[in-house]
Amino acid sequence: MESNLENSLACSRCDRVLIVYDTKRGNSATRAIAECIADILKKEGLEAIVCRASEQCPSLEVFDLIVLGSPIYYERPMKSVTEFIDRNKGLAGFKVAVYITCFVASREVPSPIRNFVIRKYLGSILKHVRGEVVASKAFKGWWRSRDEHVLEECIEWCRELVRVVTSNR
Ligand SMILES: Cc1cc2nc3c(=O)[nH]c(=O)nc-3n(C[C@H](O)[C@H](O)[C@H](O)COP(=O)(O)O)c2cc1C
Repeated sequence: MESNLENSLACSRCDRVLIVYDTKRGNSATRAIAECIADILKKEGLEAIVCRASEQCPSLEVFDLIVLGSPIYYERPMKSVTEFIDRNKGLAGFKVAVYITCFVASREVPSPIRNFVIRKYLGSILKHVRGEVVASKAFKGWWRSRDEHVLEECIEWCRELVRVVTSNR
């Protein structure tokens, strides 16, 4: 991991983003979104590394923003993601962005219910975070086939992330 990190963090003056996610599925929306975020941020000239919360991630000090991504299964985020936050002292001192993937984020769910449930789902991750939460987002995710609309929303959200990271320049 260390040498991979050195190779990928070649640009000493770029803003750096670590995207930490996990999933239990092969055809994972949460992973596709993590990779989409990394691709877009790289195109914008930022450094971006994707890492699975259940595996060894690089040390956090060099990053300007930590993005956390978790699916919701049976009303809960993945334990590996909340454990990652706890293991790293709530990410205190870091800028943090959080996204979840969950069916409830679908436009087919009436908005009062959707907003209420999303707030609850996001809250179950955010209550672990002691850093500065600069963005949060719920994506619909998918079950079998990849949903390009979800990835379009991801590209849109990346604009917000770029703004947040580059605002301190
Ligand atoms: C076993 C299972 C349980 C799920 N439970 C919920 C849930 O409680 N609420 C919800 O909104 N979506 C739920 N979903 C939908 C997922 O959050 C959605 O499919 C998301 O894309 C999962 O992330 P992944 O693609 O990385 O696995 C569930 C999906 C699965 C497979």
